[in-house]
Amino acid sequence: MGSHSYMKVWILCLIALIGATHAQLELGFYSKSCPNAEKIISDYVNEHIHKVPSLAAALLRVHFHDCFVRGCDGSVLVTSTKNNQAEKEAPPNLTLRGFDFIEVLKSVLEAECPGVVSCADIVALTARDSIRAIGGPYWNVPTGRRDGLISNGALTLQFLPAPFHNLTTLIGRFRQVGLDIKDLVVLSGAHTIGIGHCSTIATRLYNFTGNGDADPSLDSTYVQNLKTTKCKSIADQTTLVEMDPGSRNSFDLGYYKQVLKRRGLFQSDSALLDSVATRNIINHELTSTDTFFRDFTLSMEKLGRIGVLTGTQGEIRKICSRIN
Ligand code: HEM
Repeated sequence: MGSHSYMKVWILCLIALIGATHAQLELGFYSKSCPNAEKIISDYVNEHIHKVPSLAAALLRVHFHDCFVRGCDGSVLVTSTKNNQAEKEAPPNLTLRGFDFIEVLKSVLEAECPGVVSCADIVALTARDSIRAIGGPYWNVPTGRRDGLISNGALTLQFLPAPFHNLTTLIGRFRQVGLDIKDLVVLSGAHTIGIGHCSTIATRLYNFTGNGDADPSLDSTYVQNLKTTKCKSIADQTTLVEMDPGSRNSFDLGYYKQVLKRRGLFQSDSALLDSVATRNIINHELTSTDTFFRDFTLSMEKLGRIGVLTGTQGEIRKICSRIN
């Protein structure tokens, strides 16, 4: 081989290496490798979400919990093995729902294009499409995420915000993954849909400081109402409570109205009233549904880029619940 040819090979290797390490997410990443992928996902979502609209909340939450722990890499979908407690089995994730939905969709995509569409992208696209299906905002989901090779349950406690966190801790958890205060307030607006368990708010209602009292930052009429109609005892593990009563499947401004009335279900919701900056953002979102939708879209696009694996990193799982 002459020195010219050596040079050519060297340059090609360099380009391939740069491509692999600096690959980016791109809109329509599967347009050549699996042209129907995004349509299969949106058709499947549309078919099912209209029958079970409460799934939209579940799928959005799965995406959020995936992205906060090791980035949006599908690690939340992996099942534990004898030697590894996966994220899914860790306490913050025990109330996640929608895993079967994602797994069935993955099998449909595997039948269409084996080994091409990542579980991480399926999670991001189902979240977006299901929120659109219930009349919520639509955001761009550039694709090309690859699936992670690690799912470590312990990391959920280090990275996910908890319902009992105060504002400082919440801001810190968001900052850890590159999101700011505005993202915190705007993305918390997702609590306009979906449910929480009585067990999550039992202490808040029944024994906040250890004296059988309720959290004073929660509206006392609302406390009474919840105690008589929903969470009738501190031991209730199963009853569900809507986070935005009366419109749990409707993506609207209801959550912020609740929070301003001191009726945010979790301490993390009430905490958004604890600074001028976060209160101002709530009031800004309340100016119009368009404002909230536009801001939510921007923050979801940021969320969907957290710590993604691209190029030759990670893998494309065959089954979302199992590393290949
Ligand atoms: C700010 C910190 C956050 C905390 C502490 C938090 C905590 C929680 C908790 C404890 C639940 C209910 C679990 C249960 O009892 O069943 C929940 C539900 C939910 N969360 Fe959050 N969350 C936060 C932010 C977010 C974000 C950023 C999103 C999405 C962008 C989100 C979307 C949801 C949805 C949609 C549900 C309802 C799930 C369902 O119906 O199954 N949350 N959240």
